[in-house]
Formats: sequence, structure tokens, C-alpha cells
Amino acid sequence: MSVILHPYDVRDELEIQKALDFNRRKQLKHVDKVHRAEITNVVELTEQEKLFHIRILDAQERERFSFLPGQFVMVELPGYGEVPISISSSSSQKGHIELCIRKAGLVTGLLHACKPKTPVGLRGPFGTHFPLGKMRGKNVLLIAGGLGLAPLRAPIYYVTENLGEFADAHIIYGAKRPKDLLFDYEYEEWRRIYGVKLDIIVEKPDEKWDGHVGLITQLLDGITFDANDTYAIVCGPPVMFKFVCNRLRDMGIPMQHMFVSLERRMHCGMGKCCRCNIGSTFTCIDGPVFDYWSVLNLKEAI
Ligand SMILES: Cc1cc2nc3c(=O)[nH]c(=O)nc-3n(C[C@H](O)[C@H](O)[C@H](O)COP(=O)(O)OP(=O)(O)OC[C@H]3O[C@@H](n4cnc5c(N)ncnc54)[C@H](O)[C@@H]3O)c2cc1C
Ligand code: FES
Repeated sequence: MSVILHPYDVRDELEIQKALDFNRRKQLKHVDKVHRAEITNVVELTEQEKLFHIRILDAQERERFSFLPGQFVMVELPGYGEVPISISSSSSQKGHIELCIRKAGLVTGLLHACKPKTPVGLRGPFGTHFPLGKMRGKNVLLIAGGLGLAPLRAPIYYVTENLGEFADAHIIYGAKRPKDLLFDYEYEEWRRIYGVKLDIIVEKPDEKWDGHVGLITQLLDGITFDANDTYAIVCGPPVMFKFVCNRLRDMGIPMQHMFVSLERRMHCGMGKCCRCNIGSTFTCIDGPVFDYWSVLNLKEAI
């Protein structure tokens, strides 16, 4: 009888091999290629964030391009520079990827001024991914604060598209103000069509807001689960994931069951330039996804 390997079985196996291979950086040579691509659509999400649909021009390269939730690409605006951005779309979707980009400085500011048909370069995908294969049959908490919903959207797609693989799925999202909430047009679909639990909280409500008010950790109060059978993916600023992960630890979830994504300034994205190091750890290839236990053992990681 032939055994069909799930993509996550293959990738998790590769992760183990990579960890054992001291010269793993050599394996990254194939991603040192800039795909010529173009912006095909721009969706204004909030005052600061836009969603960019990006398509690789060459049909074969486009077909070959694949990624796993949690990985990122380097987006180049020719003549200006490159920025690392997490892929926000579904890993099962072919044809284009979606990137949710906050206007933060030079390159992201210029990208915000770009219209469809603008040429861009794309390298990657890079980095480690959320080990969703390990989470099969378990409860999954998908927790984001602010822009953290950008990297969390790819695992949300995976979980909603494969809901039968998980015992339970619960999305928890917090933002400063209602007008900062990302992807609000998708919440109904997550709840009604996919049937996942979704709780949202804001710190500063406006007059129309009738939902939860306060900090994201408050939403954890009402949740009951078997801690040993629960995994958590937590995305957001370090101060937020520190509070959330410490709270989850107090609730009994093992720290090796919590996964976060670290951000560092990056240049090459592939372990060559030493811009993103935390000690001897390269955030671009050993991360950006780490389990919380490893993060606590990385000096000055958060
Ligand atoms: C793995 C990874 C995934 C990321 N995913 C996303 C994403 O999905 N969406 C998104 O909007 N942004 C994301 N970022 C952050 C994004 O890369 C930076 O905002 C961008 O590089 C800023 O470039 P700039 O030229 O616009 O700004 P610059 O002009 O270079 O800098 C403007 C300001 O941003 C700060 N900054 C620059 N790079 C970073 C960084 N990596 N982290 C924190 N602050 C930084 C600078 O210190 C400065 O204060 C990610 C970063 C990493 C490392
Ligand atoms: S970004 Fe160059 S080594 Fe990580």
C-alpha cells in the first residue's frame, strides 16, 4: 500500500534534517533568485495598511512557487530597496500571493503609492513555518495583536480549509481601535462558513463598537481547553506575545506548543549578510517562526 505524505510531514522532516545539517545554508542557494513580478491589485485595509496582490510574471516560475504559512518573501521595489514581508494568503492558492503591508518607512511608503501593474521583484519564500502538521488532532489557538493578523492570516487559511484535521480552532484578535482592525470583511466568513470561533477586542472603542473592550489577554479568561492537547500561534509585537505566551503558560500550555514570529532588520533573507543575528541564530533561516521556549533562550530576542 502506498503512503501519501502530507506536505507538512515532508516539511517537518526537512526541518529536522536542516537542524542536523551544520551547512544548511548551502541548501538555500536555489532561492537566491529574483522573480520578476507585478502588483495586480491593491486593497486599502486601514489608514496604515494595504493588501497587495502580487503575481510572478513567468508562468513556470509562478506554478513552481509554493510556501508554507509563516514564511516570508523579500519584496523589491527596483531602484529603491527590498523589504521582508510575511505571506498573508492561502498556501493552497496558486497564481498570486497577498501581502499586507504597513506604511513604515522608505520602501513600504513607496509601495503604498504603487498602483496595479507596477513591476516588483520577489525573492523567497524564506524562513521557517508554523508546524501545523504537529497540531493535527489538537486544539489550535490563533492569536494576533494589531499587524500580527498579517502573518496569522496564512495559518488561519490553512486551519479553516482543513478544519477536520483539528480538534478545535479559536481565533483571538486585538487591535487598538475599531478602525485599525485588519480584514474585517472576512470575519463573517471565518465564523459562519468555516465555523471557527472568533473573538475580537479593542482597547479604545468608538461610539459604534459593541464588542469586547480591553487587552487581548482578557479574552483568554473565558476559554477552557485541555492544555496538553493545545497549540498556540501568537503573532504581534513582542510586548504582546510575551504577555499572551506567559498567560498561556500559566494556563498550562507547554512553551514548546506556542509559536511566535520574530522580526529583525533583514537584508539577504538567506543567512549570508549577518544583519538579523541574535547571537549565533539567524532570524531569517533559523526563524522567523520559533517556539516560545527557544525565544526565551535566545538572549535579547524580545
Ligand atoms: C520576517 C519579517 C516579516 C515581516 N512581515 C511584515 C508584514 O507582513 N507586513 C508589514 O507591514 N511588515 C512586515 N515586516 C516589517 C517590514 O519588513 C518593515 O516594516 C520594513 O522592512 C520597513 O522598511 P522601510 O524601507 O519601509 O522602512 P525604513 O525606512 O527602513 O525604516 C522605517 C522604520 O521601520 C523600522 N524597521 C525597519 N525594518 C524593521 C523590521 N524588520 N522590524 C521592525 N521595524 C523595522 C526602522 O527601524 C525605522 O524606524 C516584516 C519583517 C520581518 C523581518
Ligand atoms: S537577513 Fe542576511 S543573514 Fe539574515
